[in-house]
Amino acid sequence: MKQVTVQCPATVANLVCGFDILGMALDKPYDLMEVRLLDQPGIVITSRDGFQLPADPAQNTAGAPLIAMLEEIGEPIGFEVIINKQIKPGSGVGSSAASAAGAIVAANHLLGNRFSKEDLVRFALFGEKVASGVKHADNVAPCIYGGITLIRSIFPLDIVSIPAPPLHVTVVHPQIEVRTSDARQILRKQVLLKDAIRQWGNIAGLVAGFMKEDYDLIGRSLEDVIIEPVRSMLIPGFDEIKTKCKSAGALGGGISGSGPSIFMLSKDQSTAVQLETIMHDVYSRIGLDHHTYVTTINQQGVKPI
Ligand code: HSE
Repeated sequence: MKQVTVQCPATVANLVCGFDILGMALDKPYDLMEVRLLDQPGIVITSRDGFQLPADPAQNTAGAPLIAMLEEIGEPIGFEVIINKQIKPGSGVGSSAASAAGAIVAANHLLGNRFSKEDLVRFALFGEKVASGVKHADNVAPCIYGGITLIRSIFPLDIVSIPAPPLHVTVVHPQIEVRTSDARQILRKQVLLKDAIRQWGNIAGLVAGFMKEDYDLIGRSLEDVIIEPVRSMLIPGFDEIKTKCKSAGALGGGISGSGPSIFMLSKDQSTAVQLETIMHDVYSRIGLDHHTYVTTINQQGVKPI
């Protein structure tokens, strides 16, 4: 029986200013998925992690991309998927994307890698559609490509990998759930031109900062004048954590994806560890359970192990 186990990284979407167009893969946390090729049509999904996710493949973020791939292949084959999720759904670090990307990369591996990475993103987007109602690629693209990715366009897909200098990432996940669909619903549908201009400057500055390995420029560009002012209201302690982390030497940071996780970038590991203590202290004082991660950028994306 052909089978493979894949490791599927968490991802930070948006990278503060790049709503729906920038994302980054993380070395920690990650999901594990076992995928088997079946010689009969159908998709069977089993969870080994206790999360109550839909078993119906069409409603499952791992199942929907596989259905799309099987439709395109048109062969009488199927897949069995066993998910061992470590990335909590609704945490803001790409849980649905890890399932979608993991399933589709594993399936492609079992089929002799017949699809390109861009094709795999195209299929994985069906999982994001199931999860949040919208095909946004800023989690699935970095999850599949690794590193930092720019999604210049979704229709047609145009994905650009952005090189970056070494960065340390501190993430705190307060134990509340923010559904991406809800966090999108509350956004204003129109932006002021002056805010758009500032945001464009920041996105261009951030990409240039990564490519020029200019840490100061990266820090200056980690500013969001459009989404963060609205969404940060859903996250207790957000302003305090951001202010204290920046005073302690963080380059900058903000909401990870649609939240509630918050991430901060640092130039060195000792600062990243200090930021973890700050995050822990704020949430302990507020009395909110939380998990923290100190990690680095994952360069490989989903990988068979
Ligand atoms: N760009 C998406 C959003 C990412 O912010 O809604 C969700 O993880």
